[in-house]
Amino acid sequence: MLSVKSILNIEDLSLEDIDLVLSNTDSFLEVLGRDLKKVPTLRGKTIINLFFEPSTRTKTSFELAAKRMNADLVNFSAPASSLKKGESIIDTVKTIIAMKVDLIIVRHPDSGAAKFIFIKTNIPVINAGDGKNEHPTQALLDLHTIKKRFKDFKKVKVAIVGDILNSRVARSNIKLFKKVGFDVSVVSPPMLLPENMDYFNVDIKNNIDDVIGEVDVIYMLRMQFERHNRELYPSVREYNEYLSLNMDRVSKMKKESIVMHPGPVNRGIEISEEVMNLSGKGSDRLLINTQVTYGVAVRMALLYLLLGQ
Ligand code: CP
Repeated sequence: MLSVKSILNIEDLSLEDIDLVLSNTDSFLEVLGRDLKKVPTLRGKTIINLFFEPSTRTKTSFELAAKRMNADLVNFSAPASSLKKGESIIDTVKTIIAMKVDLIIVRHPDSGAAKFIFIKTNIPVINAGDGKNEHPTQALLDLHTIKKRFKDFKKVKVAIVGDILNSRVARSNIKLFKKVGFDVSVVSPPMLLPENMDYFNVDIKNNIDDVIGEVDVIYMLRMQFERHNRELYPSVREYNEYLSLNMDRVSKMKKESIVMHPGPVNRGIEISEEVMNLSGKGSDRLLINTQVTYGVAVRMALLYLLLGQ
């Protein structure tokens, strides 16, 4: 059993919890490989996808994960709800709980929103991304992706590149990767780093060329234009010069090294069109779609561990 009732952040997860999630993920990957990708594990359970921000991967993969385990999943659409008539978030959540929901998956633009909902309701909550704070299920699927690729995965060197300041993925991934013993560095200009960067205790570089030939995993972050004033941040030309992954940089990567990105990708900014369109030789190091596939299995494992046991 997990030591937690909700998945709110990485700090709360023990190493045993993380191992349990990853071993169950392998079992659910086996289910996803079958012709009939369905098990009755969560029959009779009701789950709500409460998304106050746009999402393709996280929302759809939670929906698929729930449906593949026979749970009933309801998608809550904030713009079409009574929030528009002035109802508060907590009254909205209490209304939903009154309908006998078993678990809430929440994405919200404010840091701490998932924890707030858990404290107020005391039913299981999964944080599907809260502001700039955390995106723990993304970190778990990323860890699974790395673990499947590297046999001796304790020695893995990871560089996380780009907009650390605005990235909840970076915060969750740095914490999780360090927790399992990876050698983690970040590549980012000072204006894309948070003020409390010391807290993370990682090596900081400003140019991707300083790490490209040394790391096993180059983890590219999305430039989060919607969260900042573009004038304060690097131009596309500067971004391409110091941070982007292009074909020349891919050619300098270690033989077995891999490229990851949580998506959605800004093509031509974080990763060049040529790299995104790689096919044949070399394309197997681009794991962006593999991350998405593992995302469904990781989320099945989490729903099972929180509701099915
Ligand atoms: N990686 C991620 O959270 O993507 P979505 O915003 O599409 O869910």
